[in-house]
Amino acid sequence: MKLSGKKILIGVTGGIAAYKIPILIRNLIKEGAEVQVIMTPDAHGFVTPLTLSTLSGRPVLTDFFDKKNGTWNSHVDLALWADLMLIAPATANTLAKMNHGMADNLLLAVYLSARCRVVVAPTMDLDMMAHVATQQNIAQLAASGVLIIPAEKGFLASGLTGEGRMPEPETLSEYIIHYFNHKSILAGTSWIVTAGPTFEAIDPIRYIGNHSSGKMGIAIADALAIRGAHVTLIAGPSSVLHKQPTIRREDITSAEEMLEAVEKHFAESDGLIMAAAVADYKPLQAHTKKIKKSETTFTIKLTANTDILARMGQLKQKQLLIGFALETHDAIKHAEEKLHKKNLDAIVLNSLQDAGAGFGYDTNQITIISKQQSPVTFPLKSKTEVAEDIVSFAENLFHT
Ligand code: CTP
Repeated sequence: MKLSGKKILIGVTGGIAAYKIPILIRNLIKEGAEVQVIMTPDAHGFVTPLTLSTLSGRPVLTDFFDKKNGTWNSHVDLALWADLMLIAPATANTLAKMNHGMADNLLLAVYLSARCRVVVAPTMDLDMMAHVATQQNIAQLAASGVLIIPAEKGFLASGLTGEGRMPEPETLSEYIIHYFNHKSILAGTSWIVTAGPTFEAIDPIRYIGNHSSGKMGIAIADALAIRGAHVTLIAGPSSVLHKQPTIRREDITSAEEMLEAVEKHFAESDGLIMAAAVADYKPLQAHTKKIKKSETTFTIKLTANTDILARMGQLKQKQLLIGFALETHDAIKHAEEKLHKKNLDAIVLNSLQDAGAGFGYDTNQITIISKQQSPVTFPLKSKTEVAEDIVSFAENLFHT
């Protein structure tokens, strides 16, 4: 049995494809899974709770309270119980509420409390599916780590033909079996990821900084956490929030503080990804009082910060080291030099040439250079997808 001992929450919402869920539950139970069904109130119109509770062997839950017995269905306990949560069919309404953090029914409250991976099968009529609001909700859920089982094209209950069909129960059960049996090699490993800029104090009011937003590094931290890695995110000043609740985040300001934080965790880590734009120099002296203007010219003497990556390159034992490089000319040559000089396993070369790539953008275009293979260039993608590519690359390096 391929799902022995796996605890699966199935959320059923009010769509006609709910008629396929009884078969899915039978398939999962046959493979040894424990299944708990939660339905939205509207789902009751499409498939009966009696059918689903009989097949799953557990009472189907819909309400926060069981008024008859005076008991409470704890959304937190349910969320912690599950190894995986599948919401199928997921209507446009439920996807919108999930994306906006609403919790006006038990299913949504459990989703918001879930620490396990959540998979959704968006299912609806083709025009609702194509609507920009639905597409945005699906894209944002995907960006926050929800796995999407794409709807299939075909004959829809409305009589129209197009994209919106929920895949057959066999396809859904295969997806779940594949999910549990193809764990990432990174699951359980410990990673440090740095992100964002550093601010180097001139006086209590001013600093020297850079335009890094932190988006790329934080997306990498999320991608690693999604694959089951323990992640310490060391972030410079950035308003970008990480999405995976398992990430431990340490917010720092200066390069010196970043170095200290990286050093503290390095010995216990299996890898370090330095996506932060660390300031190369800091003011030799940070004034404790605000500098008053007096002269027409003003000079700040700078001193070099420690190169964190190079330092870790000297200390590294088992750790995989991945750095970033931003170059304006002879990019590959300079990145290769950094790879060797800093004793890295790989270096991610950021493009500044392409429109839509680099600081502040939601997209990026990278080339990964490693000791083992010739440079791999990726097309312009969202930073979430670029993070997936980088983490997949790290996964392959881990294998070798
Ligand atoms: N880096 C670091 N510590 C620093 C400066 C940079 O760890 N004090 C890391 C960055 O996080 C990045 C990599 O080094 O992963 C490359 O940084 P970059 O500034 O592009 O290269 P440098 O080696 O500083 O060389 P140069 O500025 O001359 O291009």
